[in-house]
Amino acid sequence: MYQGSAPLTSRPEWKALTKHQAELENTHMRDMFRDDPDRASRFFIRGGGLSLDYSRNRMTDDTMTKLMALARSCGVPERTEAMFRGDHINVTEKRPALHVALRDNSGEPIYVDGTNITPEVETTLNRMEQFVDDVLSKRWQGHTGKPFTDVVSIGIGGSFLGPKLVSEALRPYGHGQLQCHYVANIDGTQIAEVLRRVNPETTLFLIQSKSFRTQETLENSKVARAWFLDNGGSENQIAKHFVAVTANTPEAISFGMSEDNIFPMWDWVGGRYSLWSAIGLPVALTIGMKNFRALLSGANAMDQHFRTTPLEQNLPVVMAMLGLWYNNFWGAETYTILPYDHYLRSLPAHLQQLDMESNGKSVTQNGEPLNYQSGPVIWGGVGANGQHAFHQLLHQGTRLIPADFIIPLETHNRVASHHVTLFANCLSQSRALMSGKNLDEAKAELQAEDMSADEIDKLAPHKVIPGNKPSNTLLMDKSTPQTVGALIALYEHRTFVQGIIWDVDSFDQWGVELGKQMGKGILDRLTGDTAESSAPSDSSTDNLIRMFRSHHSP
Ligand code: F6P
Repeated sequence: MYQGSAPLTSRPEWKALTKHQAELENTHMRDMFRDDPDRASRFFIRGGGLSLDYSRNRMTDDTMTKLMALARSCGVPERTEAMFRGDHINVTEKRPALHVALRDNSGEPIYVDGTNITPEVETTLNRMEQFVDDVLSKRWQGHTGKPFTDVVSIGIGGSFLGPKLVSEALRPYGHGQLQCHYVANIDGTQIAEVLRRVNPETTLFLIQSKSFRTQETLENSKVARAWFLDNGGSENQIAKHFVAVTANTPEAISFGMSEDNIFPMWDWVGGRYSLWSAIGLPVALTIGMKNFRALLSGANAMDQHFRTTPLEQNLPVVMAMLGLWYNNFWGAETYTILPYDHYLRSLPAHLQQLDMESNGKSVTQNGEPLNYQSGPVIWGGVGANGQHAFHQLLHQGTRLIPADFIIPLETHNRVASHHVTLFANCLSQSRALMSGKNLDEAKAELQAEDMSADEIDKLAPHKVIPGNKPSNTLLMDKSTPQTVGALIALYEHRTFVQGIIWDVDSFDQWGVELGKQMGKGILDRLTGDTAESSAPSDSSTDNLIRMFRSHHSP
């Protein structure tokens, strides 16, 4: 809880918003637009190279004032400074969350427990640069003297989703010299499919794991190593083909990695915030270090915007508080991310981890149960595909689902009139969600089709679209390293701000540990001499273990 203040739901700012929601409950956004011609220009802000139209929300100037009052009362500006300063804002793990330091290019020192970390960050970037240059200039080659053609990145969660998103998003910036493949899952199909497509003489493997303890990553790395050895490689050539990124160097060395091939990570960077570190190597290798640095500088531009802009004009803060408005005052349970850009198709998956692993919590930083909802379910998909799939529920379902539309003004691929049509689709969806179609309009449409009065009465209710469904529209000139960097950083800070209000630790993820702990015992029961266990179990698990064992019995 922010020092010296009352529990969240007892604060006057929270109570004022509860009362205000009741006042707005029956106001339709259509009427707000009709009565206020300046609405779109007033609720429009820019920052870090991105523009946000947030006029299509169930809010007025008064709502925004009240939301910002809540943000201030919860200490958003002070907590933001604490993050940038390197305070131990990850309270349960007693460490800072300093992903912003990875993209800070100011030259100013940033201290973690008294040590300036910026030289280490810069040294690692320079090492990455050297490595990328060695690979691309063919100084670092495969064991038979052939240049690399493929990079296989092995990692999961934050060691996978961010780099994969950015590799796809910045494909137009790829030099084409290296194909990048990702292996994450402990589903043999994934690695089998990748290994089928690559050549052991010309493939570079990146083992990406902050902890170097993640089962999926270690098992896949063992398979990759065995495949390399079975296909012409030898133990003393492994160093030519395997590079690791980790904060756990001893574990990587005992796995067999050469120390010279290990890039550092730090415990002050959370896994889901790590794409800006050497975990971004698959990206840097495929788009070059100049573009990777541009990605960092785009993120830094958003960091500066977030740190220095008044709350009312601050993109991450405005988006965070609007999301919270629906989550905590209007009963919204989910939030959808709708990129209208094929290159950004993996954004929903990345934001799922970013947001749900960060704010999927049910106790405060002091360990007290929350008496309000924390993070929503994040989901989404690329437009216009979603329009022919799940948008029906957005328009006519019973749930309130706020949406973020994200679209570049320019495309990298001018194909016929596709981009303008895509843009039209994006705008028509946000407009339809906002305005809807009332019963009179539905009837008038049917009358124009010469339908009988009886038929019109039956059909019209099905054609009513309630509207009043909130959305933001985020615009960028084009998906570039800078704008993609800024976009991801925007959502990182949005998540952080919501975590401040909910008073949760947005930087730990204890919830994922229990399944990992139980997994070990269950694996032993599936593969050992006996299915029995002295550890606590349940009849469902016992039955399913028996089924698996009987299916696999000799
Ligand atoms: O299981 C969740 C998680 O801990 C994520 O937070 C993390 O990004 C992922 O696993 C991978 O962890 P690592 O990089 O340590 O292998």
